[in-house]
Amino acid sequence: MRMRFKPYARPELLACDFHVHEPLTHAGHWHELYPRPDQPLHLELGCGKGGFMAQLAPRDRSINYLGIDITDKVLILAKRKIEAAYAAKGIPADNVRIAPLDIERMRLVFAPADTVQRIYINFCNPWSKNAGSNKHRLTHPRQLLQYRMLMPEGAEIYFKTDDDDLFRDSLGYFPAAGFEITWQTFDLHKDEPDWNIRTEHEGMFSEQGIPIKALIARKLPDSAVTWQEPKALARAAEEAEEAAAADAAQGEEAVD
Ligand SMILES: C[S@@+](CC[C@H](N)C(=O)[O-])C[C@H]1O[C@@H](n2cnc3c(N)ncnc32)[C@H](O)[C@@H]1O
Repeated sequence: MRMRFKPYARPELLACDFHVHEPLTHAGHWHELYPRPDQPLHLELGCGKGGFMAQLAPRDRSINYLGIDITDKVLILAKRKIEAAYAAKGIPADNVRIAPLDIERMRLVFAPADTVQRIYINFCNPWSKNAGSNKHRLTHPRQLLQYRMLMPEGAEIYFKTDDDDLFRDSLGYFPAAGFEITWQTFDLHKDEPDWNIRTEHEGMFSEQGIPIKALIARKLPDSAVTWQEPKALARAAEEAEEAAAADAAQGEEAVD
């Protein structure tokens, strides 16, 4: 269901202490937004209405959390849920931030100094089945290479989805982008791990009887990356062809 524009969202978010108002200005300095900048930073991509972050962040204040989403329409709900969760515990919301950001443009907003120890991707949009849109998937190698830039070796991505095709394809995407899949399941709720926190979409899909697929992937050294941008591959093939043609022409000249 399409969400309505919420005119009150922007002013309320601008008045919120843990909302990052100008995310484009913090590249290389995201850790400094927290009172304890030396703590590990964990990122949730596409945090939606914030149910996951509201449960996770107040539990462990030795970790700094950042939830990002592309639209204020959901961030405003996340803001309210997170605020309520901290208030219920009587603690300040000092280890959490939310920011309006397009994940596909992360490269412009973060720098390697913004080290991220863990990334959560929960029920991101699977996009259509045609290969042209696959590159927009949040687990496509093109995106995973962006996340790699911020992650030290051994840092992890936790990924959950309801979508069978996206999950199966992701089992190939992660290794191609230099990640080792250390754990996976095709039915997360069958033997649900203690650490799992159910998100809004997880609850909805589970009620519909759709099994939840999940995996944990660990960053390997850069030498493990095998994926190459199709355009770069095509350019390399073109250059090789041109070089071969030039060699052949030189050979013919030598014979003449
Ligand atoms: C299906 S919802 C899942 C929300 C939540 N993670 C959950 O599990 O309930 C996907 C979320 O990703 C956000 N999203 C999709 N594409 C995005 C992008 N390029 N950048 C940031 N957020 C995005 C959407 O706005 C939406 O809130």
